[in-house]
Amino acid sequence: MVYGSFDDASREYVICRPDTPSPWINYLGNEDFFTLISNTSGGYSFYKDARLMRLTRYRYNNAPRDLGGQYFYIKEGETVWNPGWMPTRTPLDRYECRHGLGYTIIQGGKNGLVARQTSLVPLGHNALVTRLEIVNQSDSAKSFDLFSSVEFCLWNALDDATNFQRNYSTGEVEVEGSAIYHKTEYRERRNHYALYSVNQPINAFDTDREAFLGPYNGYDAPEKVFAGHLGNSIASGWSPVGCHQLAINLTPGEMKGFIFILAYCQNAPADKFTAPGVINKAPARAVMEAFATDTQFEESLAALRSYWDQLLSIYQVSSGEETLDRMVNVWNQYQCMVTFNMSRSASYYESGIGRGMGFRDSTQDLLGFVHLIPERARQRILDIAATQMADGSAYHQYQPLTKRGNSEVGSGFNDDPLWLIFGVAAYVKETGDTSILDAMVPFDNDPEQAEPLYEHLRRSFRYTLANLGPHGLPLIGRADWNDCLNLNCFSNKPGESFQTTANYESGVAESVFIAGMFVGVCDDYAALMSRCGQAVEAGEVPKLKEQMRRRVLKSGWDGEWFLRAFDAHGKKVGSHECGEGQIYIEPQGFCVMAGIGIEEGLAKKALDAVWQRLMSVHGIALLTPPYSRYYPHLGEISSYPPGYKENGGIFCHNNPWVAIAETELGHGGRAYEIYRRISPAHIEDQSLHLTEPYVYSQMIAGPFAPRFGQAKNSWLTGTAAWCFHAITQSILGVKPRYDGLLIDPCLPAFLRVMHITRRFRGNTYLIDIQNHAGDEKGKLSLTLEGKKMAGNVLPLTGETGKVYRVEAVLTKTGG
Ligand code: GLC
Ligand code: GLC
Repeated sequence: MVYGSFDDASREYVICRPDTPSPWINYLGNEDFFTLISNTSGGYSFYKDARLMRLTRYRYNNAPRDLGGQYFYIKEGETVWNPGWMPTRTPLDRYECRHGLGYTIIQGGKNGLVARQTSLVPLGHNALVTRLEIVNQSDSAKSFDLFSSVEFCLWNALDDATNFQRNYSTGEVEVEGSAIYHKTEYRERRNHYALYSVNQPINAFDTDREAFLGPYNGYDAPEKVFAGHLGNSIASGWSPVGCHQLAINLTPGEMKGFIFILAYCQNAPADKFTAPGVINKAPARAVMEAFATDTQFEESLAALRSYWDQLLSIYQVSSGEETLDRMVNVWNQYQCMVTFNMSRSASYYESGIGRGMGFRDSTQDLLGFVHLIPERARQRILDIAATQMADGSAYHQYQPLTKRGNSEVGSGFNDDPLWLIFGVAAYVKETGDTSILDAMVPFDNDPEQAEPLYEHLRRSFRYTLANLGPHGLPLIGRADWNDCLNLNCFSNKPGESFQTTANYESGVAESVFIAGMFVGVCDDYAALMSRCGQAVEAGEVPKLKEQMRRRVLKSGWDGEWFLRAFDAHGKKVGSHECGEGQIYIEPQGFCVMAGIGIEEGLAKKALDAVWQRLMSVHGIALLTPPYSRYYPHLGEISSYPPGYKENGGIFCHNNPWVAIAETELGHGGRAYEIYRRISPAHIEDQSLHLTEPYVYSQMIAGPFAPRFGQAKNSWLTGTAAWCFHAITQSILGVKPRYDGLLIDPCLPAFLRVMHITRRFRGNTYLIDIQNHAGDEKGKLSLTLEGKKMAGNVLPLTGETGKVYRVEAVLTKTGG
């Protein structure tokens, strides 16, 4: 079954039937206010922090799964329907949902009426603005009623879902004209309220959920809507909602438009009230004035479109492969921006009340958005670095609103510190801004303990070296990149966190992955240190790198592939000697990316083993064979049924590592094949895949799972950034470097002629690539403005605003 397709010209994904195999969602908002919206108009909104500042309620784990959102009901005669099909599920005569960049258009038609709802979060505003246009396409006059509905969350989403003994008594609203104000807790410590308004006079409203629905009804059958009259209820405790009723008459061919606003409004403490108990509505009036007319709405949509045009023009490829182009040019970059905004906080799989921003996640995500929003990447780095501890370790997560480390999770994930070096290197290569290295950044958010950023990097680097195990490899701590390989935790109590339970600090469990990562960041670390006057530190790096490389070759090689780890008893993990979990993907990817084993021919062996043992039609599994039972000394990884998540699922995040590793060996064809297998736009069976075809999912069920090929956890995954990095830098080969732009493609044979536009450090490079090298990397000859270049780095000229023409020709080596 096909549920949708790409409209490349308008950069939209067009869903043609509402009953997609799972909710297919979009993200609206780019600054402080965000809305998740599904193809049936489900979802919710929040300001800055999905946990602490939730405007509308969403019940996860609901049945049906996607219930709750901003819903419009149209009642014409006895027929009640929704333009997005849900929640009444009245069969529609037509339906279409277009998810665009920062906006979503849902259109439904019934009995000659067509309703088109366009939702966006305008730049510069803290509001979800929805224009609903209704057209009478029949040849007779029509009279009908339009109803809106949202259900408010009492701000703190966790408390809202748990603390009913209090919350059923706190709800408060005000209604003035067409504006409904949700002001729970505004009487005490909150300085903010929510507005839900429409730009036209209403006939009636409701603000009490049970009054609107009827005490035993759901949103599929709101009593007041079916009766045709809202009851002007004023919520007092219980569950405040916002519902408008408008009576509409349309002559044949006539169209009417309505603008609905759901806004976050804030006042200074001294200006909270205009009379005792009456909220100051000035900020609400300002936003209603800003979106009172269709022209204003059109302008905000146009502004959003040009914002995205501008962003996406920084990197564009035309390869002759439309599926590749649409992923690289639009959807992959779009997903990277969403991971910048959300980290792993709010999706249809992340409830917004669990994990905040991950230290490692957010530093990796940088790879995907640093070229788009370098200034915000800079701030992100400084925020993350401020959650590092003085000994170099790091809080594993932090809350976006407070920017403070989460102490419930704490630290002890021993790869975390190194990701900081990794992220900063990506930033400096893109921007050339070495001043960031001197920026003063606190440790543990304590301004008393501020040091320049380069000192944070030094502590990261030194932390790894200060925590080595019996083989001289880095100690793993609670976990490394694989959060679920918990070699020191030994949890036996049901329900207890696998990671934060007692950490035995065996001093024995070591990670080959972190070793590979350490070797991999050494060159960047040295480059950064020498760029901020730390020549002595930089000078020591090559020796330390070589030492670690040798240790990996000596103790981290299993004969056919790289070992994964040593457990707390000093036993091998990820070895042919193990009964289960004999080979893991992570060290194969990371060690080869770091160059370990290339000269010795071991890198090739390791990647061959990946193809033989881990590769499947849907991508590369994380490990094989999966663990068939729970092993306390391995932790959460063995808690998953075989084939899911880290226990042998296709964990998409690390597939691009292997693609990149393949390019290190010059295997363009193999690298591309890995890229293609997990690319959502390349997936043919949309029913099996289940999740959105325009974004990556964290995991696809592996070969050992009953539902092999079924994806889960779409949107918020490091897969987005890594796949963008793999395709644009390692395969298409345009690589930002400290001193210029390196041209170094490694292509599959069928990509023969390509054009890439890349804006870099203020200039635009128009790069034409011709590939005569087949599936291998071949030999590159490069011309810049018609002049043959000696190497393959396009140097910085000190100028900006220029357009440079570059030609790159790959020929067969020895051919
Ligand atoms: C999740 C986490 C990420 C971790 C990965 C593997 O994607 O967000 O931090 O590296 O799982 O466990
Ligand atoms: C990773 C895993 C997830 C686990 C989490 C714990 O994200 O994918 O299954 O619960 O780590 O931090």
